[in-house]
Amino acid sequence: MAELKYISGFGNECASEDPRCPGALPEGQNNPQVCPYNLYAEQLSGSAFTCPRSTNKRSWLYRILPSVSHKSFEFIDQGHITHNWDEVDPDPNQLRWKPFEIPKASQEKVDFVNGLHTLCGAGDIRSNNGLAIHIFLCNTSMGNRCFYNSDGDLLIVPQKGKLLIYTEFGKMLVQPNEICVIQRGMQFSIDVFEETRGYILEVYGVHFELPDLGPIGANGLANPRDFLIPVAWYEDRQVPGGYTVINKYQGKLFAARQDVSPFNVVAWHGNYTPYKYNLENFMVINSVAFDHADPSIFTVLTAKSVRPGVAIADFVIFPPRWGVADKTFRPPYYHRNCMSEFMGLIKGHYEAKQSGFLPGGGSLHSPMTPHGPDADCFEKASKAKLAPERIADGTMAFMFESSLNMAVTKWGLKTSNCLDENYYKCWEPLKSHFTPNSRNPAETN
Ligand SMILES: [Fe+2]
Repeated sequence: MAELKYISGFGNECASEDPRCPGALPEGQNNPQVCPYNLYAEQLSGSAFTCPRSTNKRSWLYRILPSVSHKSFEFIDQGHITHNWDEVDPDPNQLRWKPFEIPKASQEKVDFVNGLHTLCGAGDIRSNNGLAIHIFLCNTSMGNRCFYNSDGDLLIVPQKGKLLIYTEFGKMLVQPNEICVIQRGMQFSIDVFEETRGYILEVYGVHFELPDLGPIGANGLANPRDFLIPVAWYEDRQVPGGYTVINKYQGKLFAARQDVSPFNVVAWHGNYTPYKYNLENFMVINSVAFDHADPSIFTVLTAKSVRPGVAIADFVIFPPRWGVADKTFRPPYYHRNCMSEFMGLIKGHYEAKQSGFLPGGGSLHSPMTPHGPDADCFEKASKAKLAPERIADGTMAFMFESSLNMAVTKWGLKTSNCLDENYYKCWEPLKSHFTPNSRNPAETN
């Protein structure tokens, strides 16, 4: 596969033409009476028309046929996708999942859409307020099927196997340790090359933004130029047997047939596009004196709520870095948080738990549910000699953190059969070190 090209820059106003049709973008206007190459003009709006400029998002697509050229949508089986947050009773326990099992291609062919499983979520699709976390488990390319989501944006985190994603804006190759965002309404189809697994954060009604940097200044964390946008690519492909467009609409799946590939956009311009990002490019900020900064310093992208500083969901990573804090318990501290914290692991070992939390698995710590390092980690880190050390080399853990109180689905708690019933036991060996007659810990060690 020839190396794919990208345009660089988060949220930029971009313009792209497939080089086979130079001049395909109309000059000086969006909607000429007749478009170059006799293409159709179509606008994709990602924000209300009247949003302020800073949040206004739309793109113009110049395509062989408009996307309305399809037969009617009909309800189809939605598999394990749900937005019913009352399937099972709430569970405030610390939850941890073993790696979610990928179906074997020799037994059952499963593509990206059929392989979507909703694990947890909260909020309401119809009022554009909420989120869902899905696990995708697949082994087969989508072929003549594409998908678009009317409900929100999808932040896709591949954990095993790369994804070749065809979109209306062009092609993206997304490998583990990269992420991509496919925004609301964008049609895409995914090719996979092996048994493939990953995580998805879906947010309803809002878009991901780079977090504000405050006193950090103009640079750092995820830098805008490291976000990559595909370049225009089209295929003029008739599909006599029928091409299937699958739509997630109000949490349910619908399918419509059409006679052509939807990837027939010859040129486009605008600021509403899919994009990808390599997590290796994250510039990590951390304490260089003592104590911890809050983990918000590791935020890659945020989907803001209407309350200042409060996110519908943040995407946070724990990348390789130096640990240098003096006189400090360096692993994550014990805490209770008003937020929901879902964690996943792309590769390696997470620093607060050396075992049990595995790549392709996950954990959920719900609002005010206590958690922190396991007993083994506490004992070791309390006694460790504090020299500068590498932390998390070869590892990439991440967190989907939400201000909403998420419910776990029936698939998550039961059907997946991956819930680790023994998770709470990792804290059972914690014992008291209290020395009421001696304030100085050094004297008792
Ligand atoms: Fe936490």
